[in-house]
Amino acid sequence: MRNPINIGALASGGGTNLQAIIDNCEAGVIDGRVAVVISDREGSGSLERARKHGIPAVHAHVPKTGTPEWVQANRQITRVLRDHEVDLVCMAGYMRKISPDLLAAFPGAIMNIHPALLPSFPGTHGQADAHAYGVKVAGLTVHFADAEFDQGPIIIQAAVPVLDTDEEDTLVARILGLEHQAYSQAIQWFAQGRLQISGRRVIVDGVPTATDATLVWPPVELG
Ligand code: GRF
Repeated sequence: MRNPINIGALASGGGTNLQAIIDNCEAGVIDGRVAVVISDREGSGSLERARKHGIPAVHAHVPKTGTPEWVQANRQITRVLRDHEVDLVCMAGYMRKISPDLLAAFPGAIMNIHPALLPSFPGTHGQADAHAYGVKVAGLTVHFADAEFDQGPIIIQAAVPVLDTDEEDTLVARILGLEHQAYSQAIQWFAQGRLQISGRRVIVDGVPTATDATLVWPPVELG
C-alpha cells in the first residue's frame, strides 16, 4: 500500500465530510492525501473547498443514471481518478450511482458514508426518515460501495441518541459531527492495510475482540 495513500473524493454537496478528510490528511491523522476532488455539481462547496487547499477540483457532467452517456461519464471519472493515481475513492456526499466500470476499476477501494444505521433508512433522507419513524438511536454507516446504493460491506457504524426535543436539523448536526470522525477512521484503517473484506463482513485487524460498550437511550434508571 502506497504511503501516504492517494484519495480521490466524489462529492455533490457542501463537502463537510470532504473537509474533515482534507484536514485530517494535512494534520497527519490520516496517512493520505486528497489527490483530486470530482463533483457532478459545478458550483458545489466541495469543489470550492478543494480549490482552497490547492487540490485539483474537477466538475464532471453526469447524465441520467443508466444512459450510455452516464456510462461514458463514469469512464471519464475513472480516467481522472487513475490519472491522479488514486488508491482509495471516497464518496463524500456523492448523490449519484456509480457505474459497474467505476466499481470494477477500484475493487475493494471505494467507500461511502450514509447518515443512518444501515440497513435501516437507506436513500437520500436517512436522518429525516429515522427522525420521522421515532427511533431512539440513530447514527451513520461507512461501507464499501457496491453496485447498489447503501448496500456494501460495512466498515464502521456510530450511534447517537435521539432526543425528544430533536428536530430533523439537530439530529442531522449530531450525526454529521460523528460522520467526520468515523469516515476518517475508516480511511486510516484502509491506509494501514487493516481492512479485510470477507463476504458481507469487513474484518478490522487489531481492534478489540471484546467490549462492554453499550448505548441505551433513554438511559436506564433501574437499580
Ligand atoms: C452527509 O450527511 C453524508 O452522510 C451524506 O450526505 C451528506 C453530505 O454532507 N451522504 P457533506 O457534503 O459532507 O457536508
